[in-house]
Amino acid sequence: MSYIYRALQQAELENAGTSALQDPAQATPDLFQLVGDENDWLEQVPTVKPVIRAENRMVTLNDSESLGDEKFRVLRARLLHLQDRAELKKIVITSAVPGEGKTTVASNLAISLARHTAQKVLLLEGDLRQPQLANKFGLPDLRGISEWFEGKELLTQFIYRIESLQLWFLPGGNPADDALKILQSKRFADGLNRLTGCFDWIVVDAPPLMPLADVHLWAEHADGILLVIRNGKTPKKSLLKGLEGLNSAKLLGTVLNDVLPVGGDDYGKYYRAHNRKNGNSKDQSDSTMTQP
Ligand SMILES: Nc1ncnc2c1ncn2[C@@H]1O[C@H](COP(=O)(O)OP(=O)(O)O)[C@@H](O)[C@H]1O
Ligand SMILES: [Mg+2]
Repeated sequence: MSYIYRALQQAELENAGTSALQDPAQATPDLFQLVGDENDWLEQVPTVKPVIRAENRMVTLNDSESLGDEKFRVLRARLLHLQDRAELKKIVITSAVPGEGKTTVASNLAISLARHTAQKVLLLEGDLRQPQLANKFGLPDLRGISEWFEGKELLTQFIYRIESLQLWFLPGGNPADDALKILQSKRFADGLNRLTGCFDWIVVDAPPLMPLADVHLWAEHADGILLVIRNGKTPKKSLLKGLEGLNSAKLLGTVLNDVLPVGGDDYGKYYRAHNRKNGNSKDQSDSTMTQP
């Protein structure tokens, strides 16, 4: 039991009738368990080892000196810069339609943040109707948000740590027909709020803007939204329609996926030269991922 837990209990006893902790709605066992474990529950959750296949495009894990990985490091640096200047922790990754690379970008961004900083990162499944994040990590059988919502366990009991990284993972579990019910529930909002205090970044692999409105609920929780646009795939009409009603003040920017770098070979040459200068001799020209 941590000192925070003891202090809260003590305060509750001493402030009879006056403390906010007397409010039964706040003094739930849930809250105490989470607050009580605040310093160590993150270290106690089960560790999982991802099973990554090449087609999953996890460049930040598989190909950590590649141009694709470098692109995620640039994105990470920009986000860290923004975080220095404003409240920025919960990032929602979305796009106009399915298949544009949201899950790929969310996973690689979360890994990049977790790998190159001392910060704690939570990667969260946001597409509760068609959860894909767990598959991306080769861990399709993990229980997640759906099972949490059906039962009475704590949300923290559905979080896993990715081996060797400062990265924690909350999967969706079984596809949820009642995704809206979950996302609109106070229980979910409370759970997310409590988790927010435990991490430096929360990266949400959200559903697309079209055809359903689930992403707007995620946007309400978000500090910032990143929009993935895939070369040759994003339908302009759907994008414009989907953006209607989205809080544009939260839009941080776009991630262009599947595009060749401007200047093609020249950039590759520059990148190789840059790496050699830094003592890294790995040739980038064979990178299999077209960088986001
Ligand atoms: N830059 C890329 N180059 C090649 N394939 C990609 C790229 N980005 C994503 N993919 C592939 O496209 C498919 C859809 O990507 P995914 O991240 O699941 O999209 P979304 O989450 O938006 O539906 C996946 O098979 C993924 O591996
Ligand atoms: Mg996806």
